[in-house]
Amino acid sequence: MAVKTMNKSKEYLERDEKYVNQVLARYSPTVIERGQGTYLYNMEGEKFLDFGCGIAVTNIGHCHPKVVEAIQKQAEKLLHVSVTAYHPNYIDLAEKLVEITPKSLDSVFLTNSGAEAVEGAIKMARYVTGRPAIINFRGSFHGRTYLCASLTTSKLYYRDMGEPLAPSIHTVPFPYEYQMGKSAEEAMEETFEYIDMLFHQFVNPKQIAAFLIEPVLGEGGYVAAPKGFLSRLKKLAQEHGILLIADEVQTGFGRSGKMFAVEHDNVEPDIMTMAKGIAAGMPLAAFISRKELTSKWPAARHGTTYGGNPVSCAAALANIQVIQEEKLVERAAETGARMLKRLKKFAEGKKHIAEVRGLGMLIGIEFKNEQGKPCKDWAEKVAQRCLEQKMIVLTCGQQGQVIRLIPPLNISPAEEEEAMTILEKALS
Ligand SMILES: Cc1ncc(COP(=O)(O)O)c(C=O)c1O
Repeated sequence: MAVKTMNKSKEYLERDEKYVNQVLARYSPTVIERGQGTYLYNMEGEKFLDFGCGIAVTNIGHCHPKVVEAIQKQAEKLLHVSVTAYHPNYIDLAEKLVEITPKSLDSVFLTNSGAEAVEGAIKMARYVTGRPAIINFRGSFHGRTYLCASLTTSKLYYRDMGEPLAPSIHTVPFPYEYQMGKSAEEAMEETFEYIDMLFHQFVNPKQIAAFLIEPVLGEGGYVAAPKGFLSRLKKLAQEHGILLIADEVQTGFGRSGKMFAVEHDNVEPDIMTMAKGIAAGMPLAAFISRKELTSKWPAARHGTTYGGNPVSCAAALANIQVIQEEKLVERAAETGARMLKRLKKFAEGKKHIAEVRGLGMLIGIEFKNEQGKPCKDWAEKVAQRCLEQKMIVLTCGQQGQVIRLIPPLNISPAEEEEAMTILEKALS
């Protein structure tokens, strides 16, 4: 995104170009030195309102004092042990995750990143079912490793890593009402009809290990599955002995206005992946399943050197405590609903705004051009205008035609007002 480059950052940007693999694209051309609460500060000391949260990671804001303290204390005691032995934080965190996830999920594996969590979940699903195939959904994002990129269809450039991609992956439509031009009911019907066709013409359901789904498409445009969709999918999965894997990497830890987005549909997936909001920015992720399934996966069939690092686990425990004590799940539902209502009202009659949608504090604004087609230019222009007014906003969507608002769950009313004012100006 072309914006003015600030002076002190400039030297770093030049050295970045010289020494860093430029495949790593960054959204904003500035160098961030520190973060506090809802704000990031660059090398020039300029303050940015952060509505990107490092892509939905810093759900409790930057450098929350309770998390910083937990990290400092743990860093003095033990930095690493891996599978050499057990450590208490791993077990404490596993117990906590069992407590806050849907009831039937009771067996945790910790990893470093969302992609590793998805890879682990798929590997386990294949092992325990003895089936090879996976059904994924059009427009979803599951990570950048070889298997995860093969499972990702949000944008071509994630998959554009050279054929052949991983085999036995069957992609079905996600019930994206606006894109399909259909009601929720009709969009769901289209998806289930497609799955039915798949079962009769492409793949025997007995070959399918799992459905893999994001309850809300993240990178694919902030599109929540219509109410009732996940529960119907779970029912279908059960009829065929297929597992349901919910990828909650972006939606977890209060982001959707529930601790996990599957709760909106009262669905208990067989496996659930989580990352991002788990540890306030420290590298950590997890997949959780039922003991009854994980006990079919013999010891040492999977492992990790760094996953479940003691410092990351300490950060996660403090982070979850903050989410619970400060009632941030409830707060996300309230603040998100208020922002959504205001933005929907503001969008009325604006011909380039195709749709404003959201669940909790996952809010997407989709843009269209004069012909009614997805419009990336508008999304980029709005994000750029926000940046010029010192507010960070990220884009998403299958053609980059959506801006996504993912602020910390604990933004203050003043910060909310500041953001809405900047956004309304940028959108005008
Ligand atoms: C839904 C979803 N799954 C998986 C991933 C991959 O996570 P990571 O980047 O930590 O590997 C992401 C990252 O954006 C995601 O949004």
